[in-house]
Amino acid sequence: MSRRYLIAGNWKMNKTAAEAAVLVKGIVDQAGSESAVDVAVCPPFTALDAASRALKGSKVALGAENMYPKASGAYTGEISADMIKEFGCEYVILGHSERREYFKESDAFINEKVKAALASGLKPILCVGETLQQREAGTTIDVVSTQTKGGLDGVSAAEVEKVVIAYEPVWAIGTGKTATPEMAQEVHAQIRAILSSIFGEDGAQKVRILYGGSMKPENADALLAEKDIDGGLIGGAALKADSFVSLVNSAVKAAAK
Ligand code: 13P
Repeated sequence: MSRRYLIAGNWKMNKTAAEAAVLVKGIVDQAGSESAVDVAVCPPFTALDAASRALKGSKVALGAENMYPKASGAYTGEISADMIKEFGCEYVILGHSERREYFKESDAFINEKVKAALASGLKPILCVGETLQQREAGTTIDVVSTQTKGGLDGVSAAEVEKVVIAYEPVWAIGTGKTATPEMAQEVHAQIRAILSSIFGEDGAQKVRILYGGSMKPENADALLAEKDIDGGLIGGAALKADSFVSLVNSAVKAAAK
């Protein structure tokens, strides 16, 4: 089963609308017609409009970094699926470890968002991953399993094809410490086994599992060569057109093998 690679940039709380237009232009100029792999940028809400305009006519997709599961109503400060779709978002990142940590998001709440995203036609990028403490305690697989099963509770085998999982070991995010390709592959294979136990082997083979955590041009080729690593969710290296495009090119190379 050949899954299309996806290189997605998670900009986090970086870039104003004006800065986003410049960054997206840089990406589109170099990688805007790339069709061998999927490419997406996920800017903050306030830059979605500018990014969407700058992406027009290119093959680069747009995503948001979060959303609220309700359709509308008295939820001050929150953003619905329809609001991000208005800018042409195809993807939405859900359950990032920073949201789990700083905003105390639970698996049940993330699951509500995953289901709401799917119901409105968005592709959720569901993030899972262990902390350093959990890795050292030997509970990595338990943690990732609970997060994966919890996040996907009630999702059907037909719907799961639209879901992207991002394995992001928390200790590797923004630290410069990357999981070795072997370490990452081991967890990716376990995630696929978990998916297979829920959705069957066919369903599991269709889900893309991205690696995230200090992925950069220097380590991307080795990570993307692993059998169950289907792309990357990129933080720091997504904030400069050159490094992001270099990761896209690594995925193009990996796809050609
Ligand atoms: P870095 O690439 O900066 O480590 O961030 C990874 C990440 O959190 C992507 O969602």
